[in-house]
Amino acid sequence: MNPLLAKLQPYPFERLRVLFAGVTPSAAHRPISLGIGEPRHPTPPFIQASLMQALPGLSVYPATGGEPRLREACAGWLQRRYGLALDAATQVLPVNGSREALFAFAQTVIDPTRDAVVVCPNPFYQIYEGAALLAGAAPWFAPSDPARNFAVDWDRVPPEVWARTQLVFVCSPGNPTGAVMPLEEWAKIFALSDRYGFTIASDECYSEIYFRDEPPLGGLEAASRLGRTGFERLVAFTSLSKRSNVPGLRSGFVAGDATILQKFLLYRTYHGSAMSPVVQAASAAAWNDEAHVVDNRTLYREKFAQVTPLLASVMDVRLPDAGFYLWAGADGSDESFARDLLAQYNVTVLPGSYLARESQGLNPGAGRIRMALVADTAECLEAAQRIVQFVQSRKSKP
Ligand SMILES: Cc1ncc(COP(=O)(O)O)c(C=O)c1O
Repeated sequence: MNPLLAKLQPYPFERLRVLFAGVTPSAAHRPISLGIGEPRHPTPPFIQASLMQALPGLSVYPATGGEPRLREACAGWLQRRYGLALDAATQVLPVNGSREALFAFAQTVIDPTRDAVVVCPNPFYQIYEGAALLAGAAPWFAPSDPARNFAVDWDRVPPEVWARTQLVFVCSPGNPTGAVMPLEEWAKIFALSDRYGFTIASDECYSEIYFRDEPPLGGLEAASRLGRTGFERLVAFTSLSKRSNVPGLRSGFVAGDATILQKFLLYRTYHGSAMSPVVQAASAAAWNDEAHVVDNRTLYREKFAQVTPLLASVMDVRLPDAGFYLWAGADGSDESFARDLLAQYNVTVLPGSYLARESQGLNPGAGRIRMALVADTAECLEAAQRIVQFVQSRKSKP
């Protein structure tokens, strides 16, 4: 067996199962889960229809690089969304969802013979850690700044860590915090990449669900604004799962540095990561349409506008920049909050400490909980009302 497998940490949901073992959820309430960050708005019918129409495509093996039609649809979206003109043939590559791509990317860019480090945000999406470990690198969890909604504090990564760093994961908009990385932070990370030679994987899968007027800044957009038009050592990861409510489609794309993407394509060819022609057709249709994305965003905006003030009346929580999570203060242990809430009100939330690692003596997720507002507004509101009662009843206890 590959000994690196033993280094993998249990997934947050496995830890939740252990935490909830022996808890009897309140029978007076129907179960509501805000635990799992999986989109639940309906898939647009035109995407389902294009899948059905493309079924004859099952009779051929797809090329790993994808069909030009899909790559051009992805490049067209980058042009409309960010004003960027990428070469669809060399700077764009379809992937089977961003999760597999983030994982596979680390296997492509890491040289494990050189004492490799992968810098991750903290809290973070657990795939970054597993990808680093299985690539033979050591994950290093960058300190986060609670005063800036847990944004990564790049200045606090020591030079000796940067000197060994081969890959940095950036997650903007962030999971779980929803924070969007501003241009100045991008300038900082690009300068560090120039100095130390590491690659940047920019995970942007929540980019289309946002609550401010201005859409979140993308990594490639930031690079272009700073004059880095070749996207040196930068690859952005984008996904249809949240944008188009198709988590089961397994479809996204990566874009950026053409030299790195050439190697990534080589890796993917051996790994067998070609996208089904049926999925490619539906994906092209989804990237070419923006109306359903606007509708989806409106649904999230209305939901967050109702739920957030309710919760903010009793706990430390605010509207995020983007994403579909609320990242709230638990006013004490996040694990007891989650366990007691399930027992008393049958609502599932995720303890923040499960989404972060202890680094320099501190787990930055401790004392916070993540709530995924993926169900419909009525269900999220009901959950929020129960959480308000729960928090009030805890506060009134001596
Ligand atoms: C931060 C982040 N990145 C990537 C993913 C993977 O999404 P997908 O593989 O559906 O594109 C998720 C899914 O929850 C996520 O939260």
